[in-house]
Amino acid sequence: MLTPETLGGIQMLENPHQFPGIRPDFLSRRETEPARHIHMSLDDYAPTPLVELKSLAKHCNVRSILVKDESERFGLKAFKGLGGLFALCRVICKHLGLDYRVITLDWLLEEDIQQLVRRMVFVTTTDGNHGKGLSWAAGLLGCEAHIYMPKGSVEARAQAIRDVGRAQVEILDMGYDDAVRYAAKMAEENGWFLVQDTSWPGYESVPKWIVQGYTTMVYESIHQMQKLGYEKPTHVFLQAGVGAMAGGVLGYMKNIWKNDMPVVSIVEPDQVACIFESARQADGSPHASTGSGETIMAGLNCAEPCQITWPILRDFADYYFACPDSVAARGMRVLAAPMPGDQPITSGESGAVTAGLVSLLASKKAFEPWREKLGIDENSVIYVINTEGNTDPDGFYDVVYDGMIPFDDGPG
Ligand SMILES: Cc1ncc(COP(=O)(O)O)c(C=O)c1O
Repeated sequence: MLTPETLGGIQMLENPHQFPGIRPDFLSRRETEPARHIHMSLDDYAPTPLVELKSLAKHCNVRSILVKDESERFGLKAFKGLGGLFALCRVICKHLGLDYRVITLDWLLEEDIQQLVRRMVFVTTTDGNHGKGLSWAAGLLGCEAHIYMPKGSVEARAQAIRDVGRAQVEILDMGYDDAVRYAAKMAEENGWFLVQDTSWPGYESVPKWIVQGYTTMVYESIHQMQKLGYEKPTHVFLQAGVGAMAGGVLGYMKNIWKNDMPVVSIVEPDQVACIFESARQADGSPHASTGSGETIMAGLNCAEPCQITWPILRDFADYYFACPDSVAARGMRVLAAPMPGDQPITSGESGAVTAGLVSLLASKKAFEPWREKLGIDENSVIYVINTEGNTDPDGFYDVVYDGMIPFDDGPG
């Protein structure tokens, strides 16, 4: 059992790297190429921006802060459509016996294939963004989707899922993990195809495809960084719900950068930190989180780790952070109201927590000991992903306009 350190209400664990770790082959450049092929076959495909916050970097006394801004990906306000679309295409290819390595979207829209695709029904559970991605992808491909949301989901998010595509959306009276089990049961009973963005024993192929889809963000980022004059980042901060996105990004980076990796930190809400809890228990197995499950970071509100990506996070991440909501709220404000000369970025609660943490770690006196530990200094190039834009307008304005949930670490 590891013992976390705490500063300013944030908890941190250092990975003692007791597990050797095998590079995840399914996240190699070659294995993820078909996902990029599908994404780039979309008419309106364009890489999302990599924004360099030069003034913030200067203020923090680091070389650069780079934000991959997913707030406008495919017009969906989050990165998640990358995974949903690729997984949907793979499920269709498998069902119809098509070669996923060569198909394009246009091909799946040809009338003879469409007659078969239109009969397929997809189902998932979501706390918002994955469901939106799946609804959008189902709309693009002409198939039906049923989407369940856990208790407490905001109706605006449910409506946003209906609006972008072709899904029937229902808010259930149960938590996220039970709602996932419910979707799996409905798939089984009705002959629907489950496209869930987390995995468990016996349900691994679809989540692997979803995770492969996420790697397009890193592929784009590496090219964009190099154009800005940075070979690669020295520090990477990735937020986690079930850890599929963080695991996909980290696994792809490990395949590209092998033994010359940046320092990678995984960041979660402290009340639902299942990756942190799994790291804390240090027995190699995934564990459910122990907190209250209450957080403004709806996209990260998942209590059980994704089983296919947990080993990647266990073996290759260097630090794990559990943050109060105030860190996400600070990140939303830092990105929305940047320092002079920096470009504003619209970021929702789950998107902003890493930027919030970086802005604290790199600039506040109270965090000096952790800055030293992580090796953050004037040569550091820090990379974060803004995984969502303004996906919950009421919550966004409460935080950004009304200044709710301030961060208070005392003076400094
Ligand atoms: C905006 C946003 N960021 C990050 C994540 C985390 O992804 P994962 O659950 O794969 O860890 C999610 C998940 O839904 C999300 O919606």
